[in-house]
Amino acid sequence: MKNMKRKNILVTGHLGYIGPHMVEILTSSKDYNVYGCDLGLFKENAWEDFPPIDNEIICDFRDLDKEYLENIDEVIHLAAISNDPMGDLDENITMRINAEGTTEFAKKCKDAGVKKFLMSSSCSIYGKSEKLDMVESDETEPLTAYAKSKIYVEESLMDIADDNFCVSFLRNSTAYGYSKNLRIDLVVNNFLACAVALGEIRIMSDGSPWRPLIHCRDIANALFEFLKADNSKINKQIINVGHNSQNFQVKEVAELTKEIFQDVSICFTGEAVTDSRDYRVNFDKFTSLFPNFKFQYNLKSGMKELSEKLMDYEFDSDDFNGDQFIRLKTLKKNISKIK
Ligand SMILES: NC(=O)c1ccc[n+]([C@@H]2O[C@H](COP(=O)([O-])OP(=O)(O)OC[C@H]3O[C@@H](n4cnc5c(N)ncnc54)[C@H](O)[C@@H]3O)[C@@H](O)[C@H]2O)c1
Repeated sequence: MKNMKRKNILVTGHLGYIGPHMVEILTSSKDYNVYGCDLGLFKENAWEDFPPIDNEIICDFRDLDKEYLENIDEVIHLAAISNDPMGDLDENITMRINAEGTTEFAKKCKDAGVKKFLMSSSCSIYGKSEKLDMVESDETEPLTAYAKSKIYVEESLMDIADDNFCVSFLRNSTAYGYSKNLRIDLVVNNFLACAVALGEIRIMSDGSPWRPLIHCRDIANALFEFLKADNSKINKQIINVGHNSQNFQVKEVAELTKEIFQDVSICFTGEAVTDSRDYRVNFDKFTSLFPNFKFQYNLKSGMKELSEKLMDYEFDSDDFNGDQFIRLKTLKKNISKIK
């Protein structure tokens, strides 16, 4: 019999970049027993201790059995091979985990009596958009295995959702900012880390591509908002998560970095010739569904916070060039652990 007072909530991928924020928010709310399931691919990479959690299991979410899931009321599904370049490492792994694995997992959750399933999707499914300010009903252009896997799941889970199994798809903006398990393979974090470690900013494109940006804490805040929301408001909904004011061209992010670290130089490396992602996104649906949602950060405040953390840590060139903060490099070493 499920505990009717404190809900049991499972966060998959709780040991990643967004996960520690999610766990902190849930445990401090006191309304939940918080369960975490993570394969631990980047567990040793964290630069700070993980927050305490009520119940933790280190395993593949695809291996969770019915008995375990029968005890769970709601699921926040963060676990994934989590970005575009990682998908290129082995497309099959990305599709097996993110697409087929997630679909089977959601079915298992439904069979076990889970009531709500929040899916962390991504705005990167817009790829190279033909127009600016993409809305949820616009044609997507997934350019990578990662983006394709997110579309696959949106389509397959839409068929599973019903009145007893609420599924929402959060198309999150690109994350940035401080986390206990920092990654610097995201554009904002990369510029700040490079500025602190090397005294320069390296732009891999010509700086013109658009990206919608959101602090990783605000992704967790938004997921919490969905968790509390009435199912009737969010069931089967695909929602871009971010704010219209937080779309930036990559060169603007570089300029903001230069405002913080005035001595740094900006160089264009031209490395990203094959990366044609360029999308500006409209967030009116999110704003109208959650008019009282307050973003904790904007790009400037989030960049300032992370730059201070990096300087306190004395983040240096070994950190910048090493494996610890780059998911792809760690994944290459751990790939044999993944089925
Ligand atoms: N970071 C972003 O910019 C961003 C933007 C939009 C959406 N998202 C999505 O949010 C989610 C979390 O992103 P993140 O940045 O925290 O990623 P992350 O790579 O830091 O964390 C993902 C976690 O999932 C775990 N994991 C991977 N496969 C697993 C499996 N089969 N079983 C159990 N655990 C597994 C990893 O060990 C890792 O701890 C992902 O689904 C990602 O696609 C992230």
